[in-house]
Amino acid sequence: MRHRLIVPGAMVAASLLLAVPASAAEPSPGAPGVGDPYYPDYGNGGYDVSHYDLRLTYQPKTDELNGTATLLATAEQDLSRFNLDFALDVSEVRVDGKKARFATSGAHELRITPAEPLAKGEKATVVVRYSGTPSKVEVNGFTSWLRTEDGGVAANEPEAAWWWFPSNDHPSDKASYDVSVAVPDGTQALSNGTLQSKRSEAGWTRWNWRSRAPQATYLATLAIGRFDITTSKTDSGLPVINAYSKDLGEHAGAARASVERTAEITEWLQGYFGAYPFDAMGGYVPNTDTTYALETQTRPFYSPDDFADGSNTSVVVHEMAHQWYGDSVSLKGWKDIWINEGFAAYAQWLWSEDQGEGTARELADYAYASRPADDDFWKVKPGDPGPDNQFHSAVYDRGAMALQALREKIGDKDFFALLKGWPRQHEGGNADVGDFVAYAEKVSGEPLAELFDTWLFQPSKPPASAAGLKAK
Ligand code: ARG
Ligand code: ZN
Repeated sequence: MRHRLIVPGAMVAASLLLAVPASAAEPSPGAPGVGDPYYPDYGNGGYDVSHYDLRLTYQPKTDELNGTATLLATAEQDLSRFNLDFALDVSEVRVDGKKARFATSGAHELRITPAEPLAKGEKATVVVRYSGTPSKVEVNGFTSWLRTEDGGVAANEPEAAWWWFPSNDHPSDKASYDVSVAVPDGTQALSNGTLQSKRSEAGWTRWNWRSRAPQATYLATLAIGRFDITTSKTDSGLPVINAYSKDLGEHAGAARASVERTAEITEWLQGYFGAYPFDAMGGYVPNTDTTYALETQTRPFYSPDDFADGSNTSVVVHEMAHQWYGDSVSLKGWKDIWINEGFAAYAQWLWSEDQGEGTARELADYAYASRPADDDFWKVKPGDPGPDNQFHSAVYDRGAMALQALREKIGDKDFFALLKGWPRQHEGGNADVGDFVAYAEKVSGEPLAELFDTWLFQPSKPPASAAGLKAK
């Protein structure tokens, strides 16, 4: 996935002058971005992170976060220096035990120059000590950190990590995580995965979380506040940990009536997507005034607003569907967002059908017929919506219609084999829209380029004939 820096001059020199050994190329700086066309400065070039160990302390009264991040990385080129993405204040950086020079550049870049260059393939331990008040840090005019009455939450997409840990902030570089957070006794600290332990000492409780499977940076979450926590086990023995802010007010009942059904919903999703890919699950509802939910790995984030009208199992279905489509199988670049949202939205249609509400076919028909051809909705291409429209309803609804169209074309047997096969094929990895199209053609044995082009890549309403969808 890394975009390697090529040094044409040096290569020419090496091939012409035999006296120059092949290794003569000077170590060069890692690129300040991975080369995502939507967000050129997101992530970094030249190295890959395999593990993040975050040992933090958070004071809810003042929103102060401080601690140490230890990153295990491997150089992917001869590296003279490299960047991390981060926006809090850094006091010290060490690479393999030695103090490294560092400087901030741009809005969220931390540029690190190790005492000695790293050789391609070399493993490095990078330690960053830092502190800050995340709610006060703005990058490009906004703050993703969600300050609450009793704490704070990191849950956003695509930018969330800059406000709480230094990282190679792009889904193409996934890693395992240990997140340890000390908070005042009586306050809870939540993150992804399993709760390894929790210890109280001198008025502070340290919560130790572990997320073992490869996890994208934006899917790492941290939530601090006063929560009621429920714990149980699934039939197959996985821990289920849910948490509800003590301040949900009238939304508390509906939130619990929905999120407590996570294990049941996940079991149902397994029927379509295959074995659940992680070793823990749950959900949490902090007292934020946000209007979105997010599929933070193993433990989605929900907004109180999701439960304003009463129970909402559909949003739980959506976020848990992402555990396969988005989390276990991650996009290669942000333009591939349909790989996440189209499938999570389609899972909601399947759930509706299962609940005896509208069928997937009925909901697709409605989504199609209720928007006239001149509706701006049809201008957004779900397969390449652009950074400003990444979460446009077209990515979700037209994205799900594309799947209904595919189902009509290849038939239920192949369609459901595909839904189940894909997460297995790419478990723990990354894929793009083109990979999905190729896989769908392989499973069905049918040419599908035209269907996907019509549904994902044309800025216009597909003709009714394109789908077998009913025109009304
Ligand atoms: N992936 C999330 C979902 O489908 C969407 C998050 C949108 N992000 C935002 N800040 N609004 O539920
Ligand atoms: Zn989604």
